[in-house]
Amino acid sequence: MTTSSPSSQINRQTILVCFLAALAGLLFGLDMGVIAGALPFIADEFTLTSHHQEIVVSIMMFGAALGALCSGPMSSSLGRRKSLLLGALLFVVGSIGCAIATSMEILSVFRFILGLAVGVASFTAPLYLSEIAPERIRGSMISLYQLMITIGILAAFLSDTALSAGGHWRWMLGIITFPALVLFVGVLTLPESPRWLAMRNKNELAARVLKLLRNSDREAAEELNQIRESVKMKQRGWQLFRHNAHFRRSTYLGVLLQFMQQFTGMTVIMYYAPKIFEIAGFSTTREQMWGTVIAGLTNVLATFIAIGLVDRWGRKPILKLGFSVMAICMGILGYMFYSGITTPVEQYVAVAVLLIFITGFAMSAGPLIWVLCSEIQPLAGRDFGVTCSTMANWIANMIIGATFLTLIDTIGSPNTFWLYGILNVICIVLTFLFVPETKNISLEHIERNLMRGEALRHIGQPPHRSLSSRAAAVK
Ligand code: BGC
Repeated sequence: MTTSSPSSQINRQTILVCFLAALAGLLFGLDMGVIAGALPFIADEFTLTSHHQEIVVSIMMFGAALGALCSGPMSSSLGRRKSLLLGALLFVVGSIGCAIATSMEILSVFRFILGLAVGVASFTAPLYLSEIAPERIRGSMISLYQLMITIGILAAFLSDTALSAGGHWRWMLGIITFPALVLFVGVLTLPESPRWLAMRNKNELAARVLKLLRNSDREAAEELNQIRESVKMKQRGWQLFRHNAHFRRSTYLGVLLQFMQQFTGMTVIMYYAPKIFEIAGFSTTREQMWGTVIAGLTNVLATFIAIGLVDRWGRKPILKLGFSVMAICMGILGYMFYSGITTPVEQYVAVAVLLIFITGFAMSAGPLIWVLCSEIQPLAGRDFGVTCSTMANWIANMIIGATFLTLIDTIGSPNTFWLYGILNVICIVLTFLFVPETKNISLEHIERNLMRGEALRHIGQPPHRSLSSRAAAVK
């Protein structure tokens, strides 16, 4: 923000509002990261079989898929703010419940409640952020949400490592109550999304929120006009999906994007980092735990690259670069596992490649997929579209989490990593074919391009270019 014209400065209030909403990401990350370290102790206390352990882990993802499914209708009828509030409340209840659970069944019920919270948060927070942030920083603000996820994962890895000496699994799970309470109180101070208010015909309230968040009344009035224009289309979610082929395209694109994010293999690394360090020859728990913390830290730091670049370079070039880096790293790791990691030098090279892989994800697909998913849907179907893509994230997450160890056992480590390498190459091709560039384009303009039938990869083109490409298509 070097220029000083009023409209190029970002209102401080906006940053604060975005930061509070992104706190939901922190909780998402904490709950995702915490279980890896707590599970061995829980398994001991309740004498759990492997199958029971899988239930304790995966019931949260099941809850998350369900939470995301309910979030669409909920945030449409109650509003974004109340949905976030409910999400925060579920985080508090789930965290306390997990910490005091007296059996595997009770623990599973509360993990399920936490899953609902994660589903609501992962749906509502990026949606709210995309509706509240001015377009020139929209990418960075949604990336801020991803940054919070990564900080949450790292904080969970760190607290697991610190608390593991005494085996304090109840503290590992219970400590998350505190950030959940901060989120709850923070959300109480948030304004409702002006887009949602306009959808409900509460134009005066929408104008008031925009005046608070933008630098001048003129800027606020212009934005409200644009929003009201796009709100005129009355069809909603499922009806729109059934009757409008263009909306079906953007919904499928959102689902595809989330599958692409998960099929990079990053989630596997987040859930099974200690195991991967073990395969790479680090045999002690201490080495594996610290390796996991370093992986979490790299994830946080590299997300800053995305925040800095997303609104300058644009989404597409960064995605292509990220998928390429990840494809190469998976290829090298597969080769190293194939030829055997025997010397300390080889061990450290493997770790370096793993960290470069994490960097590739964190600077690209990690944040950018959430950014794109919240940008490509038309307003009348945004809740439905984002619901479908967020559910796809959790379903793909479940598939990846539930198949990794089986893949290692059946086709072996080298083939498993090569498989992920190939999936990343496919992601590069899909990015070329279908992913639009949405940098600096208003959501209303993206919607206009989509609804008049521009190819998906062109829906982010600026007005003059999309018109000329249409003219060329007519010729
Ligand atoms: C993904 C998670 C992933 C995390 C890692 C998120 O955007 O949805 O599956 O584990 O990033 O930082």
